[in-house]
Amino acid sequence: MKTRYWTWLAWPLGALPLGWIVWQAASGAMGPDPAETFVKAIGWWALVLILTCLSMRPASQLLKVPGLVIWRRTFGLWGFIYACLHFLAWATLLLGWDPSVLGQELTKRPYIVVGTLAWLAMWPLAATSTRKARRRLGRKWTKLHKLIFVTLVLAIIHQYWVQKSGYGETVVFASVAAVLLLYRLLKDRILVKKQP
Ligand code: HEM
Repeated sequence: MKTRYWTWLAWPLGALPLGWIVWQAASGAMGPDPAETFVKAIGWWALVLILTCLSMRPASQLLKVPGLVIWRRTFGLWGFIYACLHFLAWATLLLGWDPSVLGQELTKRPYIVVGTLAWLAMWPLAATSTRKARRRLGRKWTKLHKLIFVTLVLAIIHQYWVQKSGYGETVVFASVAAVLLLYRLLKDRILVKKQP
C-alpha cells in the first residue's frame, strides 16, 4: 500500500483511547472516584502516546518500514492533546479552577510542578510540528525536538511520584524509555562513526 494511504490511520488510532475513556465516564464505569480515574486515565495515555511517538523511528528502522516515521508526528501531537486534556481535567474536575488552590498546587506540590514542566516542554514541539516550521528551522528543529526526551523523563518522574498502586508501571515506563534513549544514543554514535 502506498504510504500516503495509511498515514492518516494514526489519527483515528490516537482518538480511540479518548473515546474509550469518555465512554467509560459516561456509562458510570469509573469506580467510586470518577474524576480522579478520568484524570489518571488521560495522563496514562498521554505518557503511552509519547512513548509510542518515540518508538516510531526505531520501529521503522528495525522493521524496515519507512512509512512508520510519518506516524511519529501524529502520535506526538496526540500525546500533546492528551497532556492538555489531562491538565484541563485536573484543573476543572479536581480543582474547579479555584485560583488560590490552583496557585498553591502549581507551586507547592513537587509532582504537579514536574508534570507541568513536562507539559510546558511539549508546547514548542507542538508549535513547530508543521512541515513549514521544520523547513524554516532546519537543523535547529532537530535540536529543539530533543526536548521530547526532557518531557519523557519528567513525565516518568511525575508518574512515579503520583501513583499510589506500586511501582510496577513506573518500572515498565522507565524501561521502555531507557531502551528508546539508549537506541537513540547508540544509533547517533554509529551514524557519526560511519561519516568520513
Ligand atoms: C506530559 C505531561 C504529563 C504526563 C505524561 C502525565 C502523566 C500522568 C500519569 C501517567 C498519571 C497516572 C499516575 C498513576 O496513577 O499511575 C498522572 C496522574 C496525575 N497527573 Fe499527570 N501528567 C502530565 C502532566 C500533568 C500536569 C500538567 C498536571 C497538573 C498540573 C498533572 C496532574 C496529575 C494529577 C493530579 C494526577 C493524579 C490524579 C489523581 O490520582 O488524583 N499531570 N499523570
